[in-house]
Amino acid sequence: MSLLTLIGEPWADYGLVDSGHGRKLERYGPYRFIRPEPQAMWAPASADWDAHGEFVPGSDEEGGGRWRFDKPVPHEGWPLRWQEARFTAQTTPFRHLGFFPDMAPVWSWMRERLDGAGDPECLNLFGYTGVGTLALSAAGARMVHVDASKKSVEQARANAELSGMANRPIRWLVEDASKFTAREVRRGRRYDGILLDPPKFGRGPTGETWRLEEGLPGLIADCRRLLDDRSRFLFLTVYAVRMSALAIGELLRQELGDLGGTIEAGELGVREEARGLVLPTAIFARWSR
Ligand SMILES: C[S@@+](CC[C@H](N)C(=O)[O-])C[C@H]1O[C@@H](n2cnc3c(N)ncnc32)[C@H](O)[C@@H]1O
Repeated sequence: MSLLTLIGEPWADYGLVDSGHGRKLERYGPYRFIRPEPQAMWAPASADWDAHGEFVPGSDEEGGGRWRFDKPVPHEGWPLRWQEARFTAQTTPFRHLGFFPDMAPVWSWMRERLDGAGDPECLNLFGYTGVGTLALSAAGARMVHVDASKKSVEQARANAELSGMANRPIRWLVEDASKFTAREVRRGRRYDGILLDPPKFGRGPTGETWRLEEGLPGLIADCRRLLDDRSRFLFLTVYAVRMSALAIGELLRQELGDLGGTIEAGELGVREEARGLVLPTAIFARWSR
């Protein structure tokens, strides 16, 4: 399997402005933020970064830290836009801004896969604040959006409202992704496309433990059972885990190979505006037909 690089280009409301010396400078609409980025080992293009705030990491590598603001930023967030989807960006305690901008080429690719599909239905597992769900819904898909966190699902519904998409056919479910998928298999359900963005570690709504390395093979096997000879795609992203794109590509090949079609794997990255270099963000594997 040869590996691909899927590159997120800058868009009106988001760009990776500059990167280097273990940090990155990004713009989110009218606001600019500095965040830690251990993979940016090179020197930045500019020595002088002007930002509204910076996430200062704690001493422990795994998490912790806090935002420090140099200029006022709306605490309740501000609206951003990707194509038809509108959503609220916000500085969160988890270092990020409430959505993952490097997913933009994933949203575009999935929408292209639905081209010509009659009344498609797609599943978004670990759907978080729902930008992927809205991107697919705007392309005409009926959606099932699953996340274990009530708060995330509320934010996703608020983003649907902000997008003027509150009345679209979207089921918003606070459920454990693995349990829900297994239940859909027992119900004999099928989907035209599946998007999964599982975290390294998570908890279901009633305390179910999600550990990526343990849970992923069974979850992918169940996703296979929800795909059939009319299905179009499955897209899997993995962040912040010591795992190779080849490993998740081969997992898809073992579990989905009998469907025919194409299996690809590689790295997601974001184009830096200053010099055009590509900053890696995640690994992915995908199936399509
Ligand atoms: C979008 S995913 C991964 C985000 C990011 N890429 C990362 O690596 O952290 C995070 C989402 O998964 C959800 N989640 C965690 N465990 C879950 C589970 N067992 N079932 C369903 N959703 C879960 C969380 O509530 C959160 O909204």
